[in-house]
Order: sequence, then structure tokens, then C-alpha cells
Amino acid sequence: MKWDRKDLLGIQELSKEEILFILDTAESFKDISKREIKKVPTLRGKTVITLFYEPSTRTRTSFEIAAKRLSADTINISASTSSYVKGETLKDTAKNLESMKPDAIVIRHSMPGAPHMLSKIIDSSVINGGDGAHEHPTQALLDLFTMREKKGKIDGLKVAIIGDLSHSRVARSNIFALTKFKTEIVCSGPPTMIPPHLEDLGVKVEYDINKAVLDADVIMMLRIQKERGGVSYIPSIKEYSTIYGLRKEHVEKAKNDVIIMHPGPMNRGVEITDEVADGPYSVIFDQVENGVAVRMAILFLLIGGEA
Ligand code: CP
Repeated sequence: MKWDRKDLLGIQELSKEEILFILDTAESFKDISKREIKKVPTLRGKTVITLFYEPSTRTRTSFEIAAKRLSADTINISASTSSYVKGETLKDTAKNLESMKPDAIVIRHSMPGAPHMLSKIIDSSVINGGDGAHEHPTQALLDLFTMREKKGKIDGLKVAIIGDLSHSRVARSNIFALTKFKTEIVCSGPPTMIPPHLEDLGVKVEYDINKAVLDADVIMMLRIQKERGGVSYIPSIKEYSTIYGLRKEHVEKAKNDVIIMHPGPMNRGVEITDEVADGPYSVIFDQVENGVAVRMAILFLLIGGEA
């Protein structure tokens, strides 16, 4: 297939074929990170800006590493060190950056729709690095890449997504992606953290975590989004971790070859125990490794032209 999108704004609008095309492209990039010289000239002469209004360890670093491994020039801008603190609007910041002719801007913002707004006013490719509680498309793509790598398929998987679903852009993007495949998705968490009508997205809701993880191929844990008021939805962190924190006894109810995923950052001892996070079924650091290959693929498809 031929890629003809300027931007990557969300999973919702992608077809299954486009998702598979990104994953297949990422496969071909994964080896580059294992070489002694981890660099190819594919994006030489291109410029990628990361514009982050929220903190990030994985997304920003892996986009920068992905761009550098493809020989693009990279510039990182954080809200705290930009003219945002002097009152500049996102629109003005974007127009100013656009004047310096970048090829792609990766944006993370607390406002849902911020990347979509940017994509309408600038010619550079816009990549959504997470917009509020809306979408985190590159996370879902690296999650699907990891599922396919570990399980050999996506169709047929039972995926349990557990935690603060009401505030999770990772959960939304994963649900949008997984429902394009023949998967069974079970969401679990306290009733206050399960949005009304979640089933309308094509998932099952099961408040009992023990039932949610039963025979699961994949267990995806979510963090309580403290920065979006998540803690006010539960009586206490202690009660939450007692009922919804993933422990060995839950993992034993899943399939024998279950994989445990977490997008990070993890709150160890809250949604997941050390024993599970560092245990034999955990693929949490494989997700991070795969994030580089998936983001290389996305940059290549969006700004690589016919390279
Ligand atoms: N998964 C994820 O988005 O992590 P960061 O917030 O560290 O980028």
C-alpha cells in the first residue's frame, strides 16, 4: 500500500491496513537499533521538532532517538522553557516554528484536539504524542507491535485493560486499534474509573479484576492519572491497590503464556507489584524498545517521501 497521510493524529481514523502497514514498516527498522552503528541516512536533511507541554520520558526520548537513527536533525521544546510561560498561544508557537521549516512536529498537550488544531494551520507533518485523555496513537501502535511480536498474531487475542480507563488516552487508542481486529477486550477498574457507555466502543466491562484476567493473552495495566484528577475517583490509593493492583495471583488466572504490559510510567505498588512488573511475563521494557522502531516507521512514512 502507499502511505498518503500528512499527519498521525489518532488511531480512530486509521484503517486496519494502515495499522498493519506501520507495524510491518517498523519490523524493517527494528534491526537498525541492534547494529554497532545505529544510523541510516533515510531522513538526512529533515528536521523533527518535539513540542511537549506535558512531561514525558519514553515518548519524547524515543521520537528523538528514532529521528536521530534516521539521520534527521532534532530539536526539543518543553513548555517550561518556551515562550508559553510568557503567554504565547499554541497557535502562535506553531506558526513561529513552522516559519523555521521543520518537516515534522511531535506534540504532546493536555488539551484534547491540540494536534488536530495544529495540523490545520501548519504544512509540516503533525504527530500526536498524547492529547489530554483523548489519544496516544504511537503508544497503541507500539503496543500492537509488541503483542504481535510476542504472540505471533493480533486477531484472536483476549486483552484485559485494567485501571483508570476514564482518563487514559492509552486505553482509548488501544481500544480503537484492537477493535479493528478480531479481539476480545475486557476493561476492568473501579466503577468511578469506567466511563459510561464504554461498551459502545466494542469492549466488555467486568468490575471484578479476577474475572477480567481469566484466560487473558494480554494484561495491560494503566496508571491512575493523578494529573487529571484520577485520585479523587477512588476512596484511597491503598484500597485501589488492594482491589485493582496486579499481583501474581491474578497473573496465574490468565493464560500460561500471558504477557503483562504497561505504557509507563509505572506506579509500583499501586497498579502493579514489583514481582509482576519485573517477572517472567512482563514485556514492559520490550514495549519501550519497540517504541523506537515504531516511531522510526512513523517518521519515515510521514516525511520520508520516496526514500
Ligand atoms: N507511555 C508514555 O507515554 O510515557 P511517557 O509519558 O514517559 O512519554
